[in-house]
Amino acid sequence: MRRKLIAGNWKMNGLKADAVALAKAVFEKFDSVANCPFDVLVCPPMNVLGYVADVPHTSVFVGAQDVAETTKPNGAFTGDVSAAMVKDLGATWTLVGHSERRTYHNETDAVVRQKTENAINNGLTVVICIGETLEEREAGKALEVVTRQVRESTPAIANATNCVLAYEPVWAIGTGKVPTTADVAEMHAAIRAEVAKNLGAEVAEGMRILYGGSVKPENAKELLGVENVDGALIGGASLKVESFWAIAETQL
Ligand code: PGA
Repeated sequence: MRRKLIAGNWKMNGLKADAVALAKAVFEKFDSVANCPFDVLVCPPMNVLGYVADVPHTSVFVGAQDVAETTKPNGAFTGDVSAAMVKDLGATWTLVGHSERRTYHNETDAVVRQKTENAINNGLTVVICIGETLEEREAGKALEVVTRQVRESTPAIANATNCVLAYEPVWAIGTGKVPTTADVAEMHAAIRAEVAKNLGAEVAEGMRILYGGSVKPENAKELLGVENVDGALIGGASLKVESFWAIAETQL
């Protein structure tokens, strides 16, 4: 049985006071749930990652949104933050390959694979994001694009413990549009099959595959009820404890 993961991606939101206040509210809410049946992760931006990780918490994981591509833990890489540095701040997870990074920073599958490897080698658990653009979907290439991303962004050292995949159709992110449950089911099954081809059936069976893109309290139960959907990666709705909780609560 795969344990569901409810993950919040705060993106580039949060000055110190707001981020610490949000973290406190989220931790208080989730830490009070006895025997919580799912995992919870928050990924604040780098400027507040250390402050958030320092807020006392017991059951919520804290992650970065990215790590550097270089395998070096430090050095002349202006503006980059290595996986070792992320770990040092107290985070235990990181996102990698979010579509906003693939789009605005031209991150290729090879870059995403290297970042994933660096994170895993530093003991972080990684959420690798994948997903097709609207153009690719309309051209009938969604499955081809996403399975390629799975194949080429996932390093050989990835397994069900150190790696999670998040399917996020680019056209669904921040738009209020979501794919049909049939489309989600088809994609998640294809992703799992691709993982089986690359990393073996056992890893594929255990690896969690999240859905992301306009997940809201109103659609969470339905999307998270789709076969092979093992949780959600939530952007906008993770910025308020009420909506983040309302999504998670559908899984209690
Ligand atoms: P959204 O973002 O929930 O605001 O659509 C999801 C994401 O980009 O991870």
